[in-house]
Amino acid sequence: MPIEKFTGVHEDPFESYRDDPALHALPERMTRANIPRPEALLPPREQAFIYAMTLAKNPARVLEIGVCHGGTSRLFHWALEDLGRPLPEGVHVGIDPEPKITVEWDELTRCRLIVGTSPDKLAEATEAAGGAFDLVFVDGDHSPEGVARDLAGVCDVASPGAWILCHDWYNQWVGEGIRLALARRLPLEETGIVTQTENRGWYRPTDSEVSWGGIGILRRLPGAS
Ligand SMILES: C[S@@+](CC[C@H](N)C(=O)[O-])C[C@H]1O[C@@H](n2cnc3c(N)ncnc32)[C@H](O)[C@@H]1O
Repeated sequence: MPIEKFTGVHEDPFESYRDDPALHALPERMTRANIPRPEALLPPREQAFIYAMTLAKNPARVLEIGVCHGGTSRLFHWALEDLGRPLPEGVHVGIDPEPKITVEWDELTRCRLIVGTSPDKLAEATEAAGGAFDLVFVDGDHSPEGVARDLAGVCDVASPGAWILCHDWYNQWVGEGIRLALARRLPLEETGIVTQTENRGWYRPTDSEVSWGGIGILRRLPGAS
C-alpha cells in the first residue's frame, strides 16, 4: 500500500522554542567543543558531552572541583556564554589548590577560580556563585575518601535535582569513593554512566594498572544531607 505523504507539518516548527536560549547556540560551537585539547584533561567525546550537557541543562550556576589547566572550565564558559543567561546567572566557579592554568582565563568572563581545596572552599564558592549549584563537575581529589568527602560537601551546596557529573567513574578509587558516598546514605541518586571512554594505563606511584575516564551522573535528591 502506498504511503501517503503527511501534510500536517507545522509551518514554523521552532515557534514553541522561540524563548529557548539554546536556540542561540550555533551548531559550529558544538564542533568547536569536540576538538582534542591538551588543556582539557578529557577525551574529545567527554569534552563534547560537557558542552552539550551544559547547553541542555541551561544551569544558573556550575561548580567544578579540580580545574588544573582550565580547559574544561573553558567548555563550561563557552556553553554558558552561548546560552546567554543575563548575569549574575549562568556562571561557573572552579576550585583547585594548585591550578596550572594554560587557557586565557581572563577571557572566561563567566568563570571564577578559587584557590584552595574542596570541601573547605565550597561555602566560598557558593557565595561567589550567588546561590546553590545546579550542575557540578567532580574531578579533584581522586582518592576514595576524597571523592566521598567532595560528594558529601556537594550535597550541601547543590540545589535539589542538581546534576552531579563525576569524572573518571572507571577509576578504581573514584568508583570506591562513589560507593562510599552512596553507602553513607547521602541524598544522591545514581543515574548511570554516560560517556564510556575508559582509558587503561599504568599508574607509576603504585605500579598498578588503573582505568581512567568515563563520566557518570548522580542527582542531588531533595532533603537534608
Ligand atoms: C584531573 S585534574 C582536573 C582536570 C580538569 N577538571 C579538566 O577537566 O581539565 C585534577 C585537579 O584536582 C585538583 N585537586 C586535588 N585535590 C583537590 C581538592 N581537594 N579540591 C579541589 N581540587 C583538587 C588538582 O590540583 C588537579 O589540578
